[in-house]
Amino acid sequence: MPQAPDSAPSSVPAAKRKVTTLRLTEMKRAGDKIAALTAYDFLTARLLDEAGVDVILVGDSAAMVFAGHDTTLPMKMDEMLYHVRVVTKAVKRALVVADMPFMTYHKGIDEALGNAGRLMQDGLAEAVKVEGAGDNILPIVRRLVEAGIPVMGHIGLRPQNILNYGTYKTRGTSQDEAEQIIAEAQALADAGAFSVVVEKVPAGLAERLTRAVPIPTIGIGAGAGCDGQILVTPDMLGLNTQFHPRFVRHYAHLAKEMTGAFSRYCEDVKAGSFPSRAESY
Ligand code: KIV
Repeated sequence: MPQAPDSAPSSVPAAKRKVTTLRLTEMKRAGDKIAALTAYDFLTARLLDEAGVDVILVGDSAAMVFAGHDTTLPMKMDEMLYHVRVVTKAVKRALVVADMPFMTYHKGIDEALGNAGRLMQDGLAEAVKVEGAGDNILPIVRRLVEAGIPVMGHIGLRPQNILNYGTYKTRGTSQDEAEQIIAEAQALADAGAFSVVVEKVPAGLAERLTRAVPIPTIGIGAGAGCDGQILVTPDMLGLNTQFHPRFVRHYAHLAKEMTGAFSRYCEDVKAGSFPSRAESY
């Protein structure tokens, strides 16, 4: 079970202390970078936590990298809740943030409160993430925060808006759109969001935005100037050979490693060399 935010004695080093929303703000102020990754299952979440990842996002990217859809839009509330439950069961130190799936917070404040409440109470998430900062979203952010639900924003490229964009191209490349993205970050901070994901914008814009707002910015494809970085875990592990945008660094080549293991297993079974006597009862 996660520790209560203030239960760690001050002698506990920061690397071991439970990460809270307050801790992330302190990290921004101190210039300590925030390392975030996504998780959708128990074992991966446990490994991320043990490795010292500060924020674990149960992203609706699960719709793509876990369930094989083309976009994040098909992710349903009950599916998200399932992933959140298994991830929070594994995590002790990191802050676990649950994505609010498409159409689970757009129809009104009551619906948003109900769904965010489920992610917190049934899923044991410690915060939720919503995309956008328009006139429809900001009152929802305010109300969730008032209700005690920490909110992470998500601006720049918003995957839940992909059918309107029609492309995954970099956002904020025009002066107008760049100014709008900075205004969105400020509006989210004013509405009470504790942090904001900034996706696929020019590095200079993300850097400016990071200086402009008091809340930590977590970049993905947004250069090194953000307060933290996030990647989709199966992408950084090299699990998807068909997806390699330049902002993804491969920290492993698991597709190759796993295919090799599966092939060797098939060979051993077919040759009758698995299981051996020592692997039998
Ligand atoms: O769903 C997700 O994984 C995300 C990250 C790309 C930030 O929103």
